[in-house]
Amino acid sequence: MTIFNLGSINADIVYRLPHLPGPGETLAATELTRGLGGKGANMSVAAARAAARVAHIGAVGEDGRWAVQRLTEYGVDTRHITAVGDATGHAIIAVDDAGENSIILYPGANHAISEAAVCLALAEAAPGDTLVLQNETNLQGFTARTAREQGLRVAYAAAPFDADAVMAVLPFLDFLILNAVEARQLQEATGKSPNALGVANVVITLGAQGCRWLAAGADPVEIPALPVEVVDSTGAGDTFTGYTLAALDRGMPMEQALRLATKAAAIMVTRLGTADVIPDLKEVQSAEI
Ligand code: RIB
Repeated sequence: MTIFNLGSINADIVYRLPHLPGPGETLAATELTRGLGGKGANMSVAAARAAARVAHIGAVGEDGRWAVQRLTEYGVDTRHITAVGDATGHAIIAVDDAGENSIILYPGANHAISEAAVCLALAEAAPGDTLVLQNETNLQGFTARTAREQGLRVAYAAAPFDADAVMAVLPFLDFLILNAVEARQLQEATGKSPNALGVANVVITLGAQGCRWLAAGADPVEIPALPVEVVDSTGAGDTFTGYTLAALDRGMPMEQALRLATKAAAIMVTRLGTADVIPDLKEVQSAEI
């Protein structure tokens, strides 16, 4: 089956710093890397590296050809990435010595995806395929509804969190992934706990505590995190989502898929960078952690 990803594509400019800068502070970075990123692109690369067939739906500017080329090299179907007049999205990422980050996002072309491009991509979809979305593009509600009507399984990673954005796609979701803070914010906005939202599967990521899977009508399942030394947590959540969906796509049971994704995310946090350093399936399977 295929995973369609309505997803952002960014140039990530990553600075390693002794600590995250405060207001008015000037701080020298100790390391600089540039690479492919965006929550969408990271998820596409993760799912492709986890051996899924992935078609990315997105947009870049004229300055973003390199990003499309790189996604293609990483095994992602890029035929539905369009070139638009806006500049390619980018992110300025500060990472401190504890691996925590703070991100400035310029959405650019990620907000200029057309309905026509979405429809063209989904015309190739079949019931049982998956659509994944995050909150870094336009057309989330439209795409989720169209995909659901076509019989796709619809997954949403609620990041960057915005309660209104989640509510716009909620009626179409089969799968929701969010962290503990986002789960609380969503509960405040909807007045409902995550397992009462009407979504068949909800996964709450808990950082160093692992994750919790809430399935309709079943007891919560806790998956522990794996002990690793954190270098950079950026993109770990995206890697987790991509790996989970790829594993589910090839028929793996949810609990096993979440354990595999947890391992992939654990490897990811030991590396500085985003899409370019996502581990492949062989590395994940053979890693002893
Ligand atoms: O989740 C990490 C991602 O967030 C980065 O790659 C950055 O581009 C932002 O989208």
